[in-house]
Amino acid sequence: MTAPLPHVPSGATAAYLPALRADVVRGLTAVPKSLPPKWLYDGRGSDLFEQITRLPEYYATRTEQALLTQISADIAAHTGARSLIEMGSGSSHKTRSLLDGLARTVTTYVPVDVSGDALGPAAAAIATAYPKVEVRPREADFTDPLHLDGLDGPRLVMLLGGTIGNLLPDDRDRFLRSLASQLTPYDRLLVGVHLVTDPQVITAAYNDAAGVTAAFNAGILHRINRELDADFDPEAFAHVACWDADNEWIEMRLRARRAQTVYLGDPGVVVRFAAGEDLLTEVSAKFRPERLAAEADAAGLELQMFWTDPDNLVALALIAPALRTAPAS
Ligand code: SAH
Ligand code: TRP
Repeated sequence: MTAPLPHVPSGATAAYLPALRADVVRGLTAVPKSLPPKWLYDGRGSDLFEQITRLPEYYATRTEQALLTQISADIAAHTGARSLIEMGSGSSHKTRSLLDGLARTVTTYVPVDVSGDALGPAAAAIATAYPKVEVRPREADFTDPLHLDGLDGPRLVMLLGGTIGNLLPDDRDRFLRSLASQLTPYDRLLVGVHLVTDPQVITAAYNDAAGVTAAFNAGILHRINRELDADFDPEAFAHVACWDADNEWIEMRLRARRAQTVYLGDPGVVVRFAAGEDLLTEVSAKFRPERLAAEADAAGLELQMFWTDPDNLVALALIAPALRTAPAS
């Protein structure tokens, strides 16, 4: 029997509502306007993301999945992990390759996701498929302190799907430092990044012909309407995803098709958009190996292994706490 999950359904009583309200008011009254991407993932958003992972244009998921399957025995040999902690676990589909590879050592799986609607069914499916593994889901923001204390080592903390690239550089730095401070010398991080490749290939992955990514992006407006009693007309915004060559990231925006005024009923705030004004909903950074190595180094971590697919579209990096030799006296 599966114990009920500590999961609050979306709606007016959700525990995250004050945080959503604060983020939305801050983001929509700022210049330029932006919203934290984690709010894209409510029940509908998580479903749409799953559809994105199967689109012909979205190469990242199937490529990372194939690479994971290929290297999972290597990962097991390098880590011998007893606890597997996955941040932004979503559907936990890819996790199965890791659990198969780690079958001899892993006892506990901790999926961490802000989307309770995705977390519950994903955790239940893993618990059924891997009856010997204890599944301990946490509905949480993975940029908050993780509290790994109660989990047996060695621990493997993973973040797949290029999700680390959805954090802005400063947030990424804070995030990596905070992780580094929690790892013992035996713990490891497994980070899946998207590599810098042909901008046309990258751009197409966020502008699919079927319009699923556009629906996913606009979903945040529907969510604000529903949960903060707002009156956005989602049709009045266009989906824009463009390659920023300087920063080497994709920027996802919602562009006002005309000047408009939006009323947020819950906080009681009026927001004005000029015609053509953009609301930034997400960046998705693409990495070169040197950049990831430099960011890890700055956070007190070091790349131990770096695997890529044959077309160099994605990479999986096994990262360890850096061994600092004491300065000579
Ligand atoms: N790991 C899966 C899903 C990636 S999509 C894959 O590789 O396909 C990103 C996932 O991270 C979503 O499930 C989303 O709900 C979650 N997420 C995004 N930002 C988050 C945050 N700050 N804290 C916790 N989960 C987050
Ligand atoms: N981590 C995924 C990525 O950066 C998330 C993602 C894929 C996404 N497609 C999207 C986020 C469209 C917003 C809009 O590729």
